[in-house]
Amino acid sequence: MRIISLVIEKYASPGNGLGFYQDKAVFVPQTAIGDEVLVSVEKEKKRYIIGRLEELVKPASGRRKVPCPHYLECGGCDLLHLPYSDQLGLKKDMLVEVLAGAGIQVVVDLVAAPEEFYYRHRALFRRNQETGTFGFLRRRSHQVADVSGCLVLAQGLRILMKKLAVSTTLPEKTTTCYGLASSSGAFAAAADVGRNFQALSGIPESVTENYGFGDLELAASGFAQVNPAITRLMIRDLLRRCVDACEVAELYGGSGTFSLPLATIARHLTVYESDPAAAARCRRNAARNSLENVRLVSGRVEKKALPDSLDTLVVDPPRSGLQSLVIEKMVKSKASHLIYISCNPATLARDLVRLKAFDNGFVLDSLSAYDMYAGTTHLEVMASLKRLNPA
Ligand SMILES: C[S@@+](CC[C@H](N)C(=O)[O-])C[C@H]1O[C@@H](n2cnc3c(N)ncnc32)[C@H](O)[C@@H]1O
Repeated sequence: MRIISLVIEKYASPGNGLGFYQDKAVFVPQTAIGDEVLVSVEKEKKRYIIGRLEELVKPASGRRKVPCPHYLECGGCDLLHLPYSDQLGLKKDMLVEVLAGAGIQVVVDLVAAPEEFYYRHRALFRRNQETGTFGFLRRRSHQVADVSGCLVLAQGLRILMKKLAVSTTLPEKTTTCYGLASSSGAFAAAADVGRNFQALSGIPESVTENYGFGDLELAASGFAQVNPAITRLMIRDLLRRCVDACEVAELYGGSGTFSLPLATIARHLTVYESDPAAAARCRRNAARNSLENVRLVSGRVEKKALPDSLDTLVVDPPRSGLQSLVIEKMVKSKASHLIYISCNPATLARDLVRLKAFDNGFVLDSLSAYDMYAGTTHLEVMASLKRLNPA
């Protein structure tokens, strides 16, 4: 193992420090500007090195004592060595920079997490094949780190992790388990066996969550928002942004996290979802809350027609963002207002540019960001767009 010594001079991205060794840039995750560090060389190229923090020779004054016992070993969080207010500042700067890189200037309002710790209600656990315990992957590795003292996992998931470790009925080839916990502490799990989900004996497959708009069935094998407290704030802001919404189409609706609230204000809500199990759950969730104005369209939205009568579009695509075909459909629709929820600033910025490039495309009106994943470099964004030339 080759060890080099350097001082972190700036951030390449939040918490990912950049220093120099001889004539090469060295990137070191989990560092702060001013840290004097000893770093092992994980990857070396002609112009740069990717290093792993081995020893803090002299910590920067802007650091805090890392509150998590697994921080250096586990690949889950990158910012726990920084005070929470600094984490927010770095994440906001990163978002502004990504948007500016696409030519978008906008005031960014970043909503802080109500709870910095124990907020994570959905997780992907990896099985350590030697010990049978579950944890997270180590940084840039296929080895599993112990995370029994994890500071961000909600209580339900910590209980689930212990239960999985002593389970004698896990399918033999289980390498990965999806866990989901509700705000009330219930938990559910699904094993990923060769890319197929399998229920686990004695552990439910789904939980009931309530974000303030009725009970919602969410499955461990499907998508669910990670942080219920932030999700509630996002729902509040979504409804504020949609006060005039009447004929609404929601693309990428999942099990209905945003559909139930939207259905309380819309006259008609059409929800598009490609995963048949999630679409069926969303339909059940609407029915159990007597929301008769919700229509589910199951299948890939690229292949489906949008409603003729439409004033508002709400989209919450996967990290890859919107396909060109979907953007064209949205621009051709009658919608005058678009809300774009995104977990990936890079694809959001790309899509904002594409949405504006049409004759009467959509232009960004305002944007809020949410610290859905405190301690990590990730965030959630909600952008509000209007037509370039309103009728
Ligand atoms: C980021 S999740 C959002 C789900 C939901 N809005 C929520 O908050 O729970 C994206 C959802 O889009 C669905 N999806 C992915 N590609 C799709 C497509 N081409 N057409 C329709 N739905 C799609 C996924 O199955 C997933 O449920």
